[in-house]
Amino acid sequence: MSFDMETQYLGLQLRNPVTVAACPLSGEVAKLLELQAAGAAAVVLPSLFEEQIEHDELEVARMLDLWALSSPESPGYFPELDNYNTGPEEYLDLIREAKQSLEIPVIASLNGCSPGGWVKYAGLIERAEADALELNIYHLPTRCSESGAEVEQRYCELVGSIKQNVDLPVSVKIGPYFSSIPGMAGKLAATGADGLVCFNRFLAPDVDLQNLNYEPALEFSTSSELRHALRWIAILRDQLELSLAANGGVHTSADLIKALLAGADVVALASALLQHGPHRIAELIQGLNAWGEEHEYESVQQMRGSLSLNRCPNPDDLKRANYMRALVSHTPK
Ligand SMILES: Cc1cc2nc3c(=O)[nH]c(=O)nc-3n(C[C@H](O)[C@H](O)[C@H](O)COP(=O)(O)O)c2cc1C
Repeated sequence: MSFDMETQYLGLQLRNPVTVAACPLSGEVAKLLELQAAGAAAVVLPSLFEEQIEHDELEVARMLDLWALSSPESPGYFPELDNYNTGPEEYLDLIREAKQSLEIPVIASLNGCSPGGWVKYAGLIERAEADALELNIYHLPTRCSESGAEVEQRYCELVGSIKQNVDLPVSVKIGPYFSSIPGMAGKLAATGADGLVCFNRFLAPDVDLQNLNYEPALEFSTSSELRHALRWIAILRDQLELSLAANGGVHTSADLIKALLAGADVVALASALLQHGPHRIAELIQGLNAWGEEHEYESVQQMRGSLSLNRCPNPDDLKRANYMRALVSHTPK
């Protein structure tokens, strides 16, 4: 019997668990077609940023009013958008084109950190017929007076206001730096998040010694980064019903298999695809298939979560005991 790769993510039925993370590759329809042909099960488009749209809050409200007044098929509506802020409007065009060209689900991405008119853009994304929305919340606290509880509240308010605007499934891409990731994940689930993407990379600037300034720094990930997601997904899997995507450091079929065993519903790749091209997806899928058959699993569904916190042979391996073992096992050369 062949190994069944199907999985569910955000209520969407996917042909396999390999998805494309938001990155420049997913911003062009020609590349999206290549990614689909290589086996991608879903794609996340590059983000539309809060900064790109917040100044057009009033314009967005006007658009939504227009929609409310017009029938969905109203032929007079689309010319109105021609005068709209070209950045965001191009994004909606990308969603529409991707939807027309692809058979796999298209997930749009909004990237921001503050409540405001821009969240209404989720409504426009829904109208453009994205299958789901990923919300990348990148908030960087800089004041000593801002507490962790306030930051968490900010995340939940943002997710709540997006969910009020759309019926689309919404996943939240979070970073790994909360005092309690399970606590934060539980709050986001209670607020209505349909899925979590673990984890956003909090890219930090480097010092430019020439100009004595800070400069942006972007390096591709490596497989070792995945271990954060493996641990936290294994811990969350038994406690939360929502969808879990492993992101950050998925490069090989071994990485994919580990993420599924920990409890991920899907993995999302950016660095590996930017470095090696879309065919890397086919390699991951072949590797998963061979491993699944060799280890006599019937399906991805059956293997998913086999190494979650409650199901792994020794739960201490995911906790503090593992940290101590790692430290004391080192022998200086
Ligand atoms: C060049 C580049 C552009 C990216 N653009 C976005 C983006 O627009 N929105 C977003 O949420 N993440 C973006 N990401 C982050 C990726 O979606 C992904 O979360 C991250 O790279 C970790 O996955 P990886 O280890 O497979 O690279 C970008 C990453 C790269 C390398």
